[in-house]
Amino acid sequence: MTPQPLNDPLLILGIDTSCDDTGVGVVALYPGGRVEVRANRIWSQTVHASYGGVMPELASREHVERIDAVMEDALKEAGVKVADLGAVTATSGPGLVGALLVGLMYGKGLAQGLGVPFYAAHHLEGHIFAAASEAELQAPYLALVVSGGHTHLFDVAQVGEYRLIGATRDDAAGEAFDKIARLADLGYPGGPAIAEAAQRGNPRGVTFKEPMTGQSSYDFSFSGLKTAALLAHRAGASGEDLAASFQAVAVKHLLKVTLRAAHDLDRRTVVVSGGVAANRALREAFGASGLRAVFPGQGLNTDNGAMIALAGAAAIRSGREPGGLDDGAAAYAPLANV
Ligand code: KG4
Ligand code: ZN
Repeated sequence: MTPQPLNDPLLILGIDTSCDDTGVGVVALYPGGRVEVRANRIWSQTVHASYGGVMPELASREHVERIDAVMEDALKEAGVKVADLGAVTATSGPGLVGALLVGLMYGKGLAQGLGVPFYAAHHLEGHIFAAASEAELQAPYLALVVSGGHTHLFDVAQVGEYRLIGATRDDAAGEAFDKIARLADLGYPGGPAIAEAAQRGNPRGVTFKEPMTGQSSYDFSFSGLKTAALLAHRAGASGEDLAASFQAVAVKHLLKVTLRAAHDLDRRTVVVSGGVAANRALREAFGASGLRAVFPGQGLNTDNGAMIALAGAAAIRSGREPGGLDDGAAAYAPLANV
């Protein structure tokens, strides 16, 4: 008789189709609570390039066309068969409704067919738990989600209990990176392009005024920096100096607000996640801040399916009831208490 391995993990599939990336990941959840990312496959859509933004209907169609292949790749990477899956998680919101529905319906159908529990995940909960790939997240902690669509600061008292304590009043951090990169002709996506150009620029080459100093709330603002960048560009500032100076002030702003919140609420740990968390200058600044900063592992900062599986693992560990088949897709879905 073949001996059964002890401590077999639960294999959780995670699907994210909230915007223009088709992401499928597999995470192993061990009985003691340890998690391990076994696969993380992403198909990044390029059909939107000529439109200057994401076209919702094209995104949905592309998800439909790609999801089977991405799923197959993910299972292959994880070295498992579909029948080995013990739970399925998919993003239900926020995002583009048509795009979300593709992954959500796929996930529900799969879970139903396999007879395993299905969990609907909040996209931002996914971004936060992406960091669980690197360290066990022990609440309470702060979570700063900085992406192309979000700049949100949460106080996480425990899994499933999220209090939004600050957010951007205008543009998201990633959106500002993207817009300033476009303005200075540095390329797309703007975040990596700015980070790359910044290495050759002078962070004091362009004067930016740090936003929202003196506020008593924990909010962020990036539109003033965008305007200042436009004026500096017109006045002849180099793309490199613009990139270096903008990156420096953006990082300073994000860090200062977060540090003040951590001090006021007596939090020692901060999870920094979302696409902008891939930024090296940001990681270094938070790493040297005195807080315990936890970032997602490689490939888990920007939208992906593994982070949704990690959110599923956290939900399962916390004893959350699986969702019914009536969980719907929601374009607008604030992350409050789940
Ligand atoms: O999380 P994400 O994939 O999508 C949203 O849910 O929005 O984040 C994408 C954003 C883009 O704005 C991109 O420019 C930014 O993350 N980003 C970066 C870096 N890599 C990606 N921003 C700054 N530095 C980076 N290295
Ligand atoms: Zn995202």
